Amino acid sequence: MERTKFTGKHSREKPSTSASASTCRKALITGITGQDGSYLAELLLSKGYKVHGLIRRSSTFNTERIDHIYVDPHDSEAKLFLHYGDMTDSGQLTNLIYNVKPDEIYHLAAQSHVRVSFDMPEFTGDITGIGTTRLLEAIRRSGIKTRFYQASSSEMFGDSPAPQNEETPFKPQSPYGAAKVYAYWMARNYREGYGMFAVNGILFNHESPRRGETFVTRKTTRALARIKFGLQDKLYLGNLDAKRDWGYAPDYVEAMWLMLQQKEPDDFVIATGETHSVKEFVNLAFAHAGIEIEWKGKSKSEKGIIRSLTSNLQPLPSNMKVGDCLIEIDPRYFRPLEVGFLQGDASKARKILNWEPKVRFKEMVKIMVDSDIKDLEKMKQCQDVIRKLSDNKSRQ
Ligand code: NAP
Ligand code: GDD
Repeated sequence: MERTKFTGKHSREKPSTSASASTCRKALITGITGQDGSYLAELLLSKGYKVHGLIRRSSTFNTERIDHIYVDPHDSEAKLFLHYGDMTDSGQLTNLIYNVKPDEIYHLAAQSHVRVSFDMPEFTGDITGIGTTRLLEAIRRSGIKTRFYQASSSEMFGDSPAPQNEETPFKPQSPYGAAKVYAYWMARNYREGYGMFAVNGILFNHESPRRGETFVTRKTTRALARIKFGLQDKLYLGNLDAKRDWGYAPDYVEAMWLMLQQKEPDDFVIATGETHSVKEFVNLAFAHAGIEIEWKGKSKSEKGIIRSLTSNLQPLPSNMKVGDCLIEIDPRYFRPLEVGFLQGDASKARKILNWEPKVRFKEMVKIMVDSDIKDLEKMKQCQDVIRKLSDNKSRQ
């Protein structure tokens, strides 16, 4: 797991049920175990916050993205506290908010996969949509004063024409998009109806080495690393022509924090303004690993073939050669409805938040490819050591 610069400490201990006497600010993050939650936790800890995170009980560990900032709960300097809960459990949400009394709440928890939302529309509506209402109601009923961030999404724009900004009408093209539109309006209703400091960050796609492995960017860089190490033959993808405005997750969590530091609550689009197709992402990722791809065939029969191999970026599997097919289409990854083109206009955030993306598309692709390759290299080194150790043992 790659690390960003971080100075804080955290623990899994239960917080005191009374308000802390400390003057440092307290934040609650739902979805702390996700891509954005982990970067946001690091950012807030580095700013001196006490961070409380909601995690789901799971039969396997689901804290991989935040394990590197875990310290013993008995450490008196512990600054991160994890609490079991779920977006379906209003009672626990109300208790948590009442007990922690956070100054800021970042609501990131969601069923966040668009393709999966077509398979599980009701569940997605419950977690991604009504989950927000449960949290807003928990804040209202607990009577505490706090600032609330809602993780809204460019998926809400659906097929509205680009470039999309805060005034663009929502035309969601998925159960996930529709659930996020509902949650967006609930946050606005609580702002306008109850005077709550509630904001919507309408974030366009943002990626990183911590991106979930079934989103198209990470799926590609992970498969590429596995192909390079001879662990996988092919990458199967869906729609190669969809275009996205892809940014870098650590830049985007900074924007979340900025939104909650403003005098007045407001909604902001966060995007790079650059848009690229899935195919461009794939081409660039493979090229960075020394594999030039050319595309042959049309629609479902389109294939990504090796056009050339750059020898100085070895090792590549010894049986890999020009003309081999590495990428194919699997229609299972098509969606009943597709968002074809997203490109954000973040002028408002530039002007009011003074926010700019620092890492652009090409650099982000390289960061992701390098990270997945490095992870496999490390794993291979470990396997080599284990093999040597067991060879030595069998010779004794
Ligand atoms: P992610 O990696 O999928 O993380 C989702 C988080 O929500 C995980 O911590 C997950 O816990 C948690 N969660 C899911 N269901 C839950 C439930 N029932 N109760 C409690 N927690 C639950 O998502 P992300 O990429 O970090 O995105 C963060 C938020 O921003 C999401 O709301 C997403 O919809 C939104 N968003 C993301 C993007 C993007 O490009 N990344 C763009 C716009 C908006 P587990 O770890 O246990 O699964
Ligand atoms: N996941 C996936 N898998 N997508 C594929 C594949 C594949 O094999 N092949 C092509 N795609 C296309 C999808 O059809 C889509 O057009 C595009 O790649 C991006 O898909 P995802 O990476 O799954 O992201 P998304 O744009 O649907 O949703 C993400 O961004 C939203 C913001 O616009 C998620 O992070 C959402 O939570 C987020 O709100």
